[in-house]
Amino acid sequence: MAIKTRTAIIAGNWKMNYGPQLAANFARDIVPELGRLMLLYERIMSILCPPAISLAAVRQVLDEHPLTRIELGAQNMYYEEKGAFTGEIAPTMVSELCSTVILGHSERRTYFGETDEMVNKKAQAALRHGLRPIICIGEHLEQYEAGQTEQVIRTQVLHSLANFSAQRAADVVIAYEPIWAIGTGKAATVEGAGKVISLIRELYNDMYGSEAATDLRILYGGSVTPANIGEFMAHADIDGALVGGASIKQDFVEIVQKTIETLEQ
Ligand code: 13P
Repeated sequence: MAIKTRTAIIAGNWKMNYGPQLAANFARDIVPELGRLMLLYERIMSILCPPAISLAAVRQVLDEHPLTRIELGAQNMYYEEKGAFTGEIAPTMVSELCSTVILGHSERRTYFGETDEMVNKKAQAALRHGLRPIICIGEHLEQYEAGQTEQVIRTQVLHSLANFSAQRAADVVIAYEPIWAIGTGKAATVEGAGKVISLIRELYNDMYGSEAATDLRILYGGSVTPANIGEFMAHADIDGALVGGASIKQDFVEIVQKTIETLEQ
């Protein structure tokens, strides 16, 4: 396989699983092996994204293993700096513990009313604070079945990814997560995901130029497992995965291992 120029990212979105105690226990279970794998292969980044209340506990476990290079990410944040926003977390608070923040996940869009405009404000705030945003986009089943995927993706890209400064545009990560593939055990085909991901890169090229588009990392998400990650990683345009259900089990370590095996081929 041709050597990929972009460093791969395998991120685990733990969603609403594991409070501080369980999160620390699980992190202690996976971090040594995960860290060992990442020492063997440098062109991969792995990011753990526990619930907000468990970030400090997982940070502590990662700090006990300073050589591992495993990064920490939040699952959401607000775009304002501080103030009367009960229940929200500010970018500066996230950046004390994390390198990364997932934004605009379809569950946040569906259950908590997040719009492309809100996601865009959050992404801009993340970049201002030196956080790497993983911005999620993807179409619903009905849109997929009606052949509207391209149109939906085009709209989400134009609005969620607007107005980045030219020099920060390359720091953005996009996760293409078709909603019908999330938690269903029915992953997209590599060809299908690859086609949408190539479209996203083209649109980004139109918005920010070829350098930013070449550096942009685009992940696939939706029912990723140790059995299918290799196929996704073999696609030239797919730079990694955002993993849900399989990220709260030992499977996550296996996914990282399979990714490395594929990239080394
Ligand atoms: P699953 O891997 O459980 O399908 O979830 C994907 C996801 O939503 C990651 O953000």
